[in-house]
Amino acid sequence: MTTSTEAQTCRTTGRIASVGLDDLCARQQPGWSLERAFYTDPGVFDHDLERVWHRQWIFAGHGNAIAKAGDYFLVQIGDESIILTRDAKGEVHALFNSCRHRGSRICNEPSGNARSLVCPYHQWVYGQDGRLISARLMGADFDKSRFGLRRAHAREVQGLIFICLAPEPPDFSRFAQQVEPRLTQHALPSAKVAHVAEYDIQANWKLVVENSRECYHCGTGHPQYCNVVGFAASIGSREDTEADQKMNAAGQALLARHGISASPIPFAVGGWFQFRRFFLREGMVTESMDGKPVAPLMGSVPAYETGMLVVVGLPNLLLEVSPDYAMTLAMFPVSPTVTRARVTWLVRGDAREGVDYEVPRLTEFWRLTSEQDWKLCEDNQAGINSRYYEPGPYAPDERGVEHFVRWYLEQLV
Ligand code: FES
Ligand SMILES: [Fe+2]
Repeated sequence: MTTSTEAQTCRTTGRIASVGLDDLCARQQPGWSLERAFYTDPGVFDHDLERVWHRQWIFAGHGNAIAKAGDYFLVQIGDESIILTRDAKGEVHALFNSCRHRGSRICNEPSGNARSLVCPYHQWVYGQDGRLISARLMGADFDKSRFGLRRAHAREVQGLIFICLAPEPPDFSRFAQQVEPRLTQHALPSAKVAHVAEYDIQANWKLVVENSRECYHCGTGHPQYCNVVGFAASIGSREDTEADQKMNAAGQALLARHGISASPIPFAVGGWFQFRRFFLREGMVTESMDGKPVAPLMGSVPAYETGMLVVVGLPNLLLEVSPDYAMTLAMFPVSPTVTRARVTWLVRGDAREGVDYEVPRLTEFWRLTSEQDWKLCEDNQAGINSRYYEPGPYAPDERGVEHFVRWYLEQLV
């Protein structure tokens, strides 16, 4: 049954041509998965872009991926390409990758370093901050100051770059104030990007986020993950849960001895981020295949036994930090049924490849876990494509998915 509040939550401007979004939202039952059109329809996808991706703070990537002046990388959100670049003063800029002359794409390489951004069509030249520096043969009285690249908002917090494409971005200060102090110990701003893996997943972006918000699938979907992350396998097993609790109590005491706050930050009402700590199975200290260290301790982390921290940022960030490395998963919508996932591994800034860490050993755990997830997401999409798909009920362990879907529907206002 749908309440009038939910129907109101979903009220739209009626701009969707291919599907009646108001009707779809009104039919949506709390506690049940979304209807097929939410995962397949181009009109809903356009609406997602407008109401979620062009409004919210989006995790773009790492500040240390553009450590030097002129470094840049691209982010794609639907048809938008955004250049993330750093200028000589160290400031990060988010620039729309569309020339102010006649609109050509300026950067085509996914990342690189450029003293200036030169449009390949007629060679207008832009600075790293997006200012138009030169426009050949445009005449002496041409006013270059009017034709800088369009900009999005960019914020860098603890080495994490967020962008917002909206003219007036929503509040960011709460995230910065609450999450920043909990990350400082890991020194992410000075960490080194050890490896990046990018995937185009044949699934709607919401299916990829939903997959990341539950561990109902972990027992069979990720046996290797469950060997290390105890609670994932303990769902439904009382003995394991009790063992986890004992270990957590010991871990909490260790954190307290080192003065590390263990208090979680739950999602606020209507909020978009969450922070929590947890501990791995006994004898396991990091998210590696055998739970043993794979790199030197990060920043000022005092011991390998201090457990894990996780930050979830809707719509597209999962940050998991072990004592010796950090992993981020960033998800970007490409089309109604394609999502780009960028997985990044960070290690201590002075760690030497081949000496302090080996990329295959560092990355194996999350590479395997991610790829298992992409297969589950693609199978999920394939099944939803069936005309016989109907929404199904969430399990108690899928509260995170239910929360995400509720948050998503609220964005459609
Ligand atoms: S379109 Fe870029 S210089 Fe002409
Ligand atoms: Fe998973």
